[in-house]
Amino acid sequence: MTRATAPGRFITVEGIDGAGKSSHLQALTAWMGQRGREVLLTREPGGTPLAETLREQILHTPMDGLTELLLVFAARRDHLQQVIEPALARGVVVLCDRFTDASFAYQGFGRGMPLEHLLQLEQWVHGQRQPDLTLLFDLPATTAAERRAAARSPDRFESQDAAFFERVRQGYLQRMAQSPQRFVTIDALPAPADVWAQIEHTLQQRPWW
Ligand code: TYD
Repeated sequence: MTRATAPGRFITVEGIDGAGKSSHLQALTAWMGQRGREVLLTREPGGTPLAETLREQILHTPMDGLTELLLVFAARRDHLQQVIEPALARGVVVLCDRFTDASFAYQGFGRGMPLEHLLQLEQWVHGQRQPDLTLLFDLPATTAAERRAAARSPDRFESQDAAFFERVRQGYLQRMAQSPQRFVTIDALPAPADVWAQIEHTLQQRPWW
């Protein structure tokens, strides 16, 4: 398929904080670019001026769980409308660092927001639009905590305890069980080169390039 006729693809990357996904995003972008695809690397919450402003508040301002849930979906709505949908319509590969699976994992399982609220918001905000592929970086919550401790000063999520992150991990795994055809698990425990080999193998299996 030539570049002009290739359809847009929506790829998301997920995992608990400390799983190491961010360090592979540039390599993923480059890999697809080398195969002739225009790639847009973006993130959630964020990706537009309004959504980046909301991100600052979500990550650093104390708020209750429902407010947090509504803000992540408000940011998502703006991001989808302004950036993601137009790019997909142009045939771009949109590579997004987190999406709605993170809301199920963090706000649903982590914070205990009712899953029926999440399902309603998902339907309301993005209807049938789902990623074509979701890479789930998976590792034990205790290992992720050790990595976070070595890396950076924590935001409102990163400062949560191990039980919170174990719930978030279970949330991701349950979400994957509901849409197994969309997800690929990346074992995030080994060294970065081994993790990258899993990612590359997954991409090579897709007939999109
Ligand atoms: P993250 O993507 O890990 O970025 P950084 O590497 O800069 O820390 O941080 C985003 C945080 O937002 C992460 O802790 C998960 C959280 N989050 C939610 O709670 N709900 C959501 O819907 C999204 C997209 C993210």
